[in-house]
Amino acid sequence: MTGVEAPEATQAFPERPRAAGRQDWTAWPKYNAAGSGYRGYWYPVTWSSHITKDPKSYTICGEKLAIIRDAGKAYALHDRCPHRGVPLSEGDQQFPGTVSCPYHGWTYRLTDGKLAAVITDGPDSKICGKLSVQTYAVEERLGLVWVYIPIAKEPAPSIDDQLPRELVENAGIVGGRIQPREGNWRFACENGFDEGHAKYLHRTALWRLFKPMPTWNITSIVPEGRWIYRVQDEVYWEANFPGVGKWTNKRWWKKKPDESKVSQIGNVGAGLDVNPVIAAQNFPGFASLSMPGVLRIAYPNFIHYEFYVPVDDDRHQYVGLMVNFVSGARKTLGFYLKYLGAIRWLFHGQFSGQDAWMVEVTDAPPEKLYRPDVSLTTWRNLAEEEYSEKLSAAAKFLPEQVVRTRERRAPASRGVSAAGKSADTVKTSE
Ligand code: FES
Ligand SMILES: [Fe+2]
Repeated sequence: MTGVEAPEATQAFPERPRAAGRQDWTAWPKYNAAGSGYRGYWYPVTWSSHITKDPKSYTICGEKLAIIRDAGKAYALHDRCPHRGVPLSEGDQQFPGTVSCPYHGWTYRLTDGKLAAVITDGPDSKICGKLSVQTYAVEERLGLVWVYIPIAKEPAPSIDDQLPRELVENAGIVGGRIQPREGNWRFACENGFDEGHAKYLHRTALWRLFKPMPTWNITSIVPEGRWIYRVQDEVYWEANFPGVGKWTNKRWWKKKPDESKVSQIGNVGAGLDVNPVIAAQNFPGFASLSMPGVLRIAYPNFIHYEFYVPVDDDRHQYVGLMVNFVSGARKTLGFYLKYLGAIRWLFHGQFSGQDAWMVEVTDAPPEKLYRPDVSLTTWRNLAEEEYSEKLSAAAKFLPEQVVRTRERRAPASRGVSAAGKSADTVKTSE
């Protein structure tokens, strides 16, 4: 027989190189699952002055809240009337200490959410007292309303144990900005602590108009208590990139800080007088991060905080606070003039707007991390560790069948230290 032998039915392709980098976040299972936020924490919701006797609607960790003020105190209830699902935030107050649904007048007590009256069913309504809506613990601190989103039915811990200690122990003046933003809260949080981007992304920010930023750094990530700190070990103002050229952020009109005084107070703080309260904190590094997504940047005269408040999987709320640890009418006025005249626009506005832009367009995982991203992996390790402990502590408040289901679903345990980043100091150069 003549002819051409048929080719083999299966064609052997050369083996594809395995993709480098991280394809998902399953190395941090709880972090991976925390798209709509971590329950079991206090979150800042809005300014205290925004909460009045007219209930307003907010969403935190995917949970819809109706928040209302009565006799000077703020209350939060699940924003859904059990009757037909109408938001209680659409209703109003008909009796002191209550809120009434706008549809049929079911009226709930603010202290415990109990159905106290059913206006359209008369005073002898049989359903009255038989059901309730969930209520949430509320506190007011720093001019903000904070709500505790529980894991189960656990009592809310003291908010003072969660707030940065220096804010609990010292008086200060607060300026701030709250903005709803697109993007997952974890991208916002990772961006806040991200070691690599500030020098590049923010080089055009007006906030940095007269202050250059380095080209690159050698940085360590140092854990201390509930926080991890970015500690600057070496600073490089310019660099020659082989085959490409020289690159620097330096410009003749930008004043470089005195290099003989390397400071961990802001990256421009060397040589400046530092406010005594800030100096007394002895922060190992100027940028620090803690659960559930609180960034702290120490400058010589103020501390800047960012709270990345989860709304749902795709949105978060940016709460930026600038706290000056001073008192007295003259200093207070001076701070507000400085804040409203410049900082609010330059720092909480344009500078922070560049971050909002990146958070909105970030799309990970998959991701291929580079040396400075140890700031991100250390944060994820911290989150994983703290949340594991929190879940264990809350387990006794969960219904038993939920615990059993969780145990069945739980992946093989992976110690945080297995990621190799739980050593006291993590160097980005390693
Ligand atoms: S839906 Fe609320 S009273 Fe009917
Ligand atoms: Fe930034």
